[in-house]
Amino acid sequence: MFTTQFLLVFSLLLSLPILFLLAPRIFPPHNPSIPISPSDEQDDLDLFRKATAVAASSSFVTHYPSAHAHFTFKSKKLKIAFLFLTNTDLFFAPLWEQFFKSADKNLFNIYVHADPYSNVTKPKGVFSSQFIRNAKRTYRASPTLISATRRLLATAILDDPTNTFFAVLSQYCIPLHSFKYVYDSLISSKSFDFSSSESGPESTQYNVKIEYKSFVEIISKERRLWKRYVARGRYAMMPEVPFEKFRGGSQFFVITRRHALMVIEDRRLWNKFKQPCYREDECYPEEHYFPTLLSMQDPKGCTKYTLTRVNWTGTRNGHPYTYKASEISPVLIQELRKSNYSSSYLFARKFEPNCLKPLMKIADEVIFQD
Ligand SMILES: *[C@@H]1O[C@H](CO)[C@@H](O)[C@H](O)[C@H]1NC(C)=O
Ligand SMILES: *[C@@H]1O[C@H](CO)[C@@H](O)[C@H](O)[C@H]1NC(C)=O
Ligand SMILES: *[C@@H]1O[C@H](CO)[C@@H](O)[C@H](O)[C@H]1NC(C)=O
Repeated sequence: MFTTQFLLVFSLLLSLPILFLLAPRIFPPHNPSIPISPSDEQDDLDLFRKATAVAASSSFVTHYPSAHAHFTFKSKKLKIAFLFLTNTDLFFAPLWEQFFKSADKNLFNIYVHADPYSNVTKPKGVFSSQFIRNAKRTYRASPTLISATRRLLATAILDDPTNTFFAVLSQYCIPLHSFKYVYDSLISSKSFDFSSSESGPESTQYNVKIEYKSFVEIISKERRLWKRYVARGRYAMMPEVPFEKFRGGSQFFVITRRHALMVIEDRRLWNKFKQPCYREDECYPEEHYFPTLLSMQDPKGCTKYTLTRVNWTGTRNGHPYTYKASEISPVLIQELRKSNYSSSYLFARKFEPNCLKPLMKIADEVIFQD
């Protein structure tokens, strides 16, 4: 009698750790992370396929450098696609408006992905007709942010074959320089990127750089990386993404057309990263998908750092420090520009919406002065 009870208790106790180990596989995720519907997924797939096909047939920038590229360069200017991802009004639209006002219209395009479930007011001016029609609902810390970014990339690829760099920004981002400075830094400067070995006259032809790199942060040593890796279950990312290949970084980046195509062509990693997490507090797939994919497929083509300054001191709940109106000053702008990796940061986040007024005050004399 006694031994039976003992055995029962003993085996129950023994089964606890086993249950604990297997739980993620047995029980469905309790995380409220909403799965992406099959019809949304299909919409995106159709868009990505179309963009890939069109890109393949108008490949002059994509497969640059090539003889063909040199031939077409003189007649076509390279553009920067500015991709805004938002679920609120674009607080700093007037500042960006001023940024774009000084720019040659042939050197940029704007695309806005606004969550259709949040009532985003379309600002007048350069942003008004740039809201993409296929925008879908987005949730913080979820694969929907990856989808939205890929949707923006695909739309920009489809829209204009001369879109060469793709800069992903949010409603909390501001420019730290004039358009001219941003354009020259990305397209023609030989000294902007400190990590580049390019120097000397042979590195540019027809006044553009021979080789473009993506400015995407890629972090491999970080305290929380393991927790983030196992957030979907211990073996959920295998075999496609072993832990040694898992990376972290900012979801706000500037990538080349070649990499933008790589991102929208990917199915393998997306199938892993789109899975819901078990741990909500460690689930930020948008901070891992892009750096992991690009570092797996083309590490040499990435600078491994971002051009968007962000202040992580005193971070709370996964949010970076948000600057207040009273903190805006010429000194802050100078401070935010300082980078260890390039001549300067080009953008910064995050700012409270009421920073607009003090930012506009110093726009012409400080921000766009360089
Ligand atoms: C958007 O606006 C509509 C009508 O003005 C309102 O019914 C709805 O609740 C609003 N939605 C959000 C998310 O604010
Ligand atoms: C970053 O944020 C902290 C507050 O968390 C602030 O004290 C500091 O001045 C900020 N750094 C910069 C460069 O703005
Ligand atoms: C640059 O590097 C120094 C030394 O490692 C560090 O103290 C500083 O915070 C870095 N600055 C930026 C803007 O990352």
